[in-house]
Amino acid sequence: MSADHQEKADEDLSGLQWLSRHRPEAMEHLLAFFKESGRHLDPKTRFLISVVTKVVNFTPRGLRQYIPRAMREGASRDEILDAILCAYPAAGLTNVLDAVDILRSIPVATHDPTDDQASATTLADVPSARWRDVASLEELTPGRGHLVVVEGQRLALFREGDQVHAISNACVHLGGQLADGYVEGSVVTCPLHGWQFELNDGQCLTDSSEKVDTFETRIEDQRVSVFL
Ligand code: FES
Repeated sequence: MSADHQEKADEDLSGLQWLSRHRPEAMEHLLAFFKESGRHLDPKTRFLISVVTKVVNFTPRGLRQYIPRAMREGASRDEILDAILCAYPAAGLTNVLDAVDILRSIPVATHDPTDDQASATTLADVPSARWRDVASLEELTPGRGHLVVVEGQRLALFREGDQVHAISNACVHLGGQLADGYVEGSVVTCPLHGWQFELNDGQCLTDSSEKVDTFETRIEDQRVSVFL
C-alpha cells in the first residue's frame, strides 16, 4: 500500500481500531484489562457503567448502543436515567441533558414481542417506577412460573403459598426463559442448561457471582402488584 493510501485508510479508522493496528500488543493487554476489571459485575451493572462513560465522553452512538443493552439485562428506565444523572459531576449539564434526549428517543416494545399486537413507543412514554398490577393471585399456579410483560419488561412470577416472587425472566447464563423453569420450593431451575436461582433474592446457586433481578411484590384483594 502506498504511503498516501495508508494515510487515507488510517483516517477512516476509529481511534480504537487505529491503536489496535499500530500497537497490537498494548491493545491486547488493555482490552484484557477491561474484560477482567468487570468480572465480578453483573451484566446490567456493567452496561449501566458503560452508559455513564458514554455520557461523560458524550458519544450518542454509544448511548444508543448501551441503553438498550442495559434494558435487555433488566434495567428500568429510571435506573438508566439515574446512571445518566450520576455522570453529571464529570460530564456537565449539557452532556446530561443531551443524553436524556437520546434516552427519551429510544424505542421500547410495550407488549410481549411474540405477541402479534406488539407495538413500539419510546422510553419517554414509560412511566416512573411505581406499583403495577400484573396478575390475579388465583391465576398463578404454585409450583410453576408465569410470564408477564410490563411496559416492555419481561418478568417471571412464582407463587409460593400466599407469597409471590417476581424476578427477571431472562436467565443470566444465555437468556433462557425462567418462567418456563422447573420450580421446587423457592428455587427455579432454568429450562435451557439447568442453572438454579433462589427466588427470594435472585441469587444464582450454580455460579455465586451471578444474580437475576428481583422485584418487590404485594397482594391486595387477590391482585398481585410489582414495584418497578
Ligand atoms: S440459559 Fe439458563 S442455564 Fe443456560
